[in-house]
Amino acid sequence: LSNGLALTPPMGWSSWNQFGDQIDEILIRDTIQTMASNGLKDAGYVFVNLDDGWQRYKGNRSANPLEADPVKFPSGIKALADFAHAHGFKLGIYSGPGQSTCAGYTGSEGHEDEDAAMFASWGIDHLKYDSCCSHEHAPKSEVQKIVLKMSKALLAQSHPIVYHACHCGWADIWEWAADEGANQWRIGQDISDEFNYPGNREKYYFDVLDMLDRGNELVKYSGPGHWNDYDMLIVGLNGNSSQLVGTGASNIEYRTHFSMWAMVASPLLIGSDVRTLDTYSLQTLTNKEVIEVSQDPLGNAAETVGVGEEAGGDLQVYAKEMLDGSYAVALLNRGSFTAEMSISPRRDLTMPWDQYRLRDLWKHKEGTYDVPYTTEVMPHEAKVLRLWQVQANASMCFFQ
Ligand code: GLA
Repeated sequence: LSNGLALTPPMGWSSWNQFGDQIDEILIRDTIQTMASNGLKDAGYVFVNLDDGWQRYKGNRSANPLEADPVKFPSGIKALADFAHAHGFKLGIYSGPGQSTCAGYTGSEGHEDEDAAMFASWGIDHLKYDSCCSHEHAPKSEVQKIVLKMSKALLAQSHPIVYHACHCGWADIWEWAADEGANQWRIGQDISDEFNYPGNREKYYFDVLDMLDRGNELVKYSGPGHWNDYDMLIVGLNGNSSQLVGTGASNIEYRTHFSMWAMVASPLLIGSDVRTLDTYSLQTLTNKEVIEVSQDPLGNAAETVGVGEEAGGDLQVYAKEMLDGSYAVALLNRGSFTAEMSISPRRDLTMPWDQYRLRDLWKHKEGTYDVPYTTEVMPHEAKVLRLWQVQANASMCFFQ
């Protein structure tokens, strides 16, 4: 959406994956205070987004007004937005174009302008507008109509609001929403809390690999102000999600998922309880060098540049060019066995570089090379690398 917002993929937290509709103002304030003190805010996670369940009423909008639940949010949403802003955060909220939302709360149908004005008056900074359930099988033209109706309503407000049109991968939203539509759109159905959920592809839920496969076809639709959204992060859920299927992923798998979401320029919305986040997850989420890959101002999304034939496609190399002319590269091993993987600027990036400096963004180490760089990649691991051209005659050194 050309509203000057979300020029890099939005970063923050969203309540849904961990808590479902069991949210209240104490949880949100605690989340804000935790993120302000544990390094997440400093790393760039500034959106705190209420998902479904903040509303007072279940049922149709024609029979109920849209109000905050007075038991869950006794101080009201404006007070919460003020609290968020005072701590350097932005507050997001959730609604949908139907009579009711996915979890059965009142939606915005017939009240779009009124609701946009209400959100703006509260100081809301991000709206997830979810048509997945109310318009799941609606024709493309109908989905266009409802998405654009809200984007127009938001653009008419003086308070800027990032617009997430959540349509779970239907209606080819990416083909038509970049300019007038939305700042982000989901490319698939809900993620599961597992790296490669068995048999998942035929079911309602996607997993990390499904999202990557889907996104790889949609790279060209993503860019500053309009992002492919691969769904909220599962890092740190450890099988404890109240909403998602799956029994959790390993530390390595969560790290790979995070690395890949950064590579493909998906919004980075943490989905776990930040108050109880384990040290490894926190380290994963706050790796500044990987976040730099996500937040690069050029706004490229990585795509696969090679597929290892010997492993039946399990070894994938993802790459994207960064603003400073360097490349971010991920060596992703989707298979079950440790494998040697390599990257060569000439072969894989078609860059005529004789020498290059390569930095491993998880090891935080680097070296200079004039041959393909080769490394061992564990099952479900992604090595994330950054490569810069080096002028000829630089001296060679190796870190491995
Ligand atoms: C849909 C969305 C989820 C979440 C729920 C809320 O399933 O895909 O991300 O917002 O609705 O009900």
